[in-house]
Amino acid sequence: MAKMWAGRTAGEVDRIADDFNSSIGFDQRMYRQDITGSMAHAAMLGAQKIISESEAEVLIDGLETILADLESGKLEIDLSCEDIHMFVEQELTARLGDVGKKLHTARSRNDQVALDMRMYLRDEAETILKKIRALIEVLAEQAKANRDVIMPGYTHLQRAQPITFAHHLLAYAMMLLRDADRFTDAMKRINVSPIGSCALAGTTYDTDRWFEAKKLNFNDICRNSIDGVSDRDFCVEFLSNAATMMMHLSRFSEELILWSSWEFKFVELSDAYTTGSSIMPQKKNPDMAELIRGKTGRVYGDLMALLTTLKGLPLAYNKDMQEDKESVFDAVDTVKMCLDVMIPMIATMKPLPENMKAAAQKGFINATDLADYLVKKGLPFRSAYKISGQIVARCIAEGQVLETLPLEVYKAYSELFDEDLYADIDLWICVKKRISEGGASPDSVDAQIAYVEEKLKNG
Ligand code: ARG
Repeated sequence: MAKMWAGRTAGEVDRIADDFNSSIGFDQRMYRQDITGSMAHAAMLGAQKIISESEAEVLIDGLETILADLESGKLEIDLSCEDIHMFVEQELTARLGDVGKKLHTARSRNDQVALDMRMYLRDEAETILKKIRALIEVLAEQAKANRDVIMPGYTHLQRAQPITFAHHLLAYAMMLLRDADRFTDAMKRINVSPIGSCALAGTTYDTDRWFEAKKLNFNDICRNSIDGVSDRDFCVEFLSNAATMMMHLSRFSEELILWSSWEFKFVELSDAYTTGSSIMPQKKNPDMAELIRGKTGRVYGDLMALLTTLKGLPLAYNKDMQEDKESVFDAVDTVKMCLDVMIPMIATMKPLPENMKAAAQKGFINATDLADYLVKKGLPFRSAYKISGQIVARCIAEGQVLETLPLEVYKAYSELFDEDLYADIDLWICVKKRISEGGASPDSVDAQIAYVEEKLKNG
């Protein structure tokens, strides 16, 4: 079929080149945004008397029925069209005749595609935000349920100091709150209307860009027509936010994988989010967590791909920019899928407090508290640190823990030690003493849960 843009050229485009050039295979997912955008455009053309009011109505009705027919499955997208914009216009003209050909007045596919992408990302960012909030809610629930569950906190993956499982989970809730903030903040820059920029230089018609922007719920319009069609920084920002969030999900996944190993056995993931092995009957593999960790690489790739595509492009539109879509779509799909799996996986995860406690009892994670005891009795911290280290070394040599070492032994290291030291190195007391704001104490954990819930409520 002849191209809608046939005119300057008369020859046919090579079939393979035509496929290569086409984006309808992937940009068809923006049909709703494309049609809604076109309806606003037709309304503006009518309101500004660029076309007659009745022609505008005919166009809007036509577009509405195309949308309804696509939604109901009555109309199929014609994959021989170059892109979704061409398809909608072609279908409209097939249905309405010459009036259909008026839709593209004072518009270009360059501003149309930028508009569709912004509307698409605006919708998807909302969906993603809802999912992030749902994950934070689940984390807060698990934190509440595990407020008093002691576990070892780690640095260098070595047992370091006693914390609670709740405190650990809330660290992820805080990260995800910032991820949500980032998506919300990006909306300011996504939600700006490029339509009316036309090919690059604006137009000679008396258009009303604010009319269209308001009709489509944009907060602002791009103030420079070249910028409106040239930049995809809003896509880059979205991808960067997606990559950052995936980095958080990936670290969390890594911990879930470790925690569900026999070496740790801190949690048991529900059967619904694990798989068996085809050969080893004993296996219960954390595939979903591993896949989330794995898919993080894809989303990083999407970000890098778009940044690289854009870096050498002269202004204004270049066909290279068609490559924005697959990166953005892939990231959107991946992020949503990962969150959809993560939310119920965390909700159904069963902590194993006995094992966490046993691990906490083994790593001398109360050694800092032992040093703090001596500081309380008047010793400078560095000296207290040294004595505590020597006592730990002795315990290791003798197969003891700090809690079982007799007072006479302690006294041999410092006369400051007394019977009350045992209370100070009791693990639960060690946790309770970490009362600094944001610390591991149950009171602090309660305050953190309240903070998270408040943020969820008030955004
Ligand atoms: N399919 C194109 C894209 O996704 C639409 C814009 C085409 N504009 C043009 N001048 N060829 O970028």
